[in-house]
Amino acid sequence: MKAAEILLDDETLFRDEEVFTPSYVPEDFIHRDDQLKEISLSLKPGLRGVNPVNTLIHGPPGTGKTTAVKHIFNEVNKVSNKLVTVYVNCDDYNTRFSIFSRIHEAVFGTAPPDTGKPLNAVKEKVFRKLQRENKSLVIALDEIDQLFLNKTIDKLLLDLLKAHTTYGYDKIGIIGVLIDDSIVLGLDSKSSSVFNPVKVYFPPYSTGEVEDILSARITYGLYDGVLSKGLFEYVVEKTVDAGDLRVGIDLIRRSALLAERDSSRKITSDHVELAYERESRRVNLERMIRSIDDVERALLRIIADSNGEVSGVIQDRLREATGTGVKKYNQMIGKLEHIGLIETIPVKGRGQTREIRLKNTVEDVRELV
Ligand SMILES: Nc1ncnc2c1ncn2[C@@H]1O[C@H](COP(=O)(O)OP(=O)(O)O)[C@@H](O)[C@H]1O
Ligand SMILES: [Mg+2]
Repeated sequence: MKAAEILLDDETLFRDEEVFTPSYVPEDFIHRDDQLKEISLSLKPGLRGVNPVNTLIHGPPGTGKTTAVKHIFNEVNKVSNKLVTVYVNCDDYNTRFSIFSRIHEAVFGTAPPDTGKPLNAVKEKVFRKLQRENKSLVIALDEIDQLFLNKTIDKLLLDLLKAHTTYGYDKIGIIGVLIDDSIVLGLDSKSSSVFNPVKVYFPPYSTGEVEDILSARITYGLYDGVLSKGLFEYVVEKTVDAGDLRVGIDLIRRSALLAERDSSRKITSDHVELAYERESRRVNLERMIRSIDDVERALLRIIADSNGEVSGVIQDRLREATGTGVKKYNQMIGKLEHIGLIETIPVKGRGQTREIRLKNTVEDVRELV
């Protein structure tokens, strides 16, 4: 088939492909009743016009933490406008200003004009309005560990939880979401005394739970008979091994796309195997990328954008972007090579000169950094 034919061909195995995308929030969020109950109890004071209880949601990746928060916020917004909900992913927004911009957006419907408005002006504006309208605020800081890494956390917690001392507004609750709760031990004494959260743990799903969740997803997302029972069980097994529901959801989507590529009406075991290989590579890569810091990530992005370039050029680009010196640069290259993200290859006939290459595909790396 030619490109245009492929694009226009509407033969598909998906009843609704969107249910396999990361931003999809499932209507029926099952097997998390205890956690949803605890989070609801924390939010409830907000519906009565006082401050929600600070809460820390923790547990391994792919256990429904993000989805639980989004699901509950949707429910809150259906029943009340007393409690303003703000969801922030700190991978995307990790400065105090950008986080207050999200709050501004939730309160006023638009981001603050970014003509150099100082943080304090934005804070004052949102707190005054909330105070005037007698509304409570809950802000979910997903991937909150980012704010520990860049050391924004203590100041931000005080911005929010000490708002009453400067602005007379005290109806704020924070929901932090992260994998490992021990990180909160790193808060300084001032902010830990005001934050002091209730903890809610999300354990990995059991085999039966994974089966229930994935089969519901398949019913909405795929046409009947596309995935056989045997292959479904295989997908469940791989998902339970990984302890991450995302593995199963991605695996089903990728297998179905491979089957479509072959113009097959069914997913075969070859499709699942190939998708699984790619999926494990992606999960591995994601894990490696999680373990590096912001500057190392910036370096990796530069390498992805100039894959195969010689080391000197990469170093120049990193210095321009981040001001990193040569000694630190060499250490970082050593580290990225050691974890297996890149390789350095001597250029024939050019002495010490080395080429720097990604060990993974450029697309995969770009998607994640
Ligand atoms: N209980 C559940 N019911 C239905 N889908 C779920 C459930 N828990 C997780 N999911 C799905 O699994 C994927 C990962 O969930 P997510 O909330 O992003 O996990 P986490 O934030 O813990 O890493 C998402 O696609 C989400 O829709
Ligand atoms: Mg999440």
